[in-house]
Amino acid sequence: MRAVLISFEGGEGVGKSTQIRLLAARLVQAGYEVCCLREPGGTAIGEQIRHILLDTANTGMAPTTELLLYEAARAQLVHEIIRPALDAGKVVLVDRFTDSTLAYQAFARGLDAELVKTANALGSEGLTPVRTVLLDQDMETGLEKATQEGADRLEAEGRAFHQKVHDGFEQLLRENPGRMVRVACQESKIDTHALVFAAVADLFNEQAGQPFAITEQMLQDIKDTK
Ligand code: TMP
Repeated sequence: MRAVLISFEGGEGVGKSTQIRLLAARLVQAGYEVCCLREPGGTAIGEQIRHILLDTANTGMAPTTELLLYEAARAQLVHEIIRPALDAGKVVLVDRFTDSTLAYQAFARGLDAELVKTANALGSEGLTPVRTVLLDQDMETGLEKATQEGADRLEAEGRAFHQKVHDGFEQLLRENPGRMVRVACQESKIDTHALVFAAVADLFNEQAGQPFAITEQMLQDIKDTK
């Protein structure tokens, strides 16, 4: 089995975790071993760092502190889980990776992009996803959905901040035409999944390309995910 790292990116509330679960289910059916992760988080240490990053009490956090905490969580995830999973030939699907740091900490927060790229290289041990699916939907719609039950520290940034994140991802898409693929979110999660699969299909065997039956159980499982 060929090891692959695929990242999912996009603004708030675009449904990355649902799409990761659907793609993972499809790949497992086709015989792949799949590891699904999220950033920041995915390890015991990383989840603690996530809590610090998203806690609305931490309003005074300096942009550089924020950058270093995202990179610290990433370094732990790469060391503890991503590298070993890739070495074992698994497919790794990660909810956000280095592009988020460029969109949020460079484009939106205003840190120097070259500095963020250097920090990304450190936090990721130089790992770059072979493909990045950019889930795209209107910024207002996603933000509204993500904050229905309250906003975390990043979600609580204003609309201007999230518009910059959106524009940042657009620029990254232009700069990385081979790796990054835009997928427009559809009304139905299943329709979006078909587009996501089309964006990564060349990385997988024919069996993965066979019509994929989404079971009631799968729909039930993803019902409550963002
Ligand atoms: P999530 O809610 O999609 O799991 O992501 C947590 C938040 O962290 C989200 O608002 C995006 C933000 N983020 C950054 O600002 N920089 C990063 O490097 C990453 C990975 C996430």
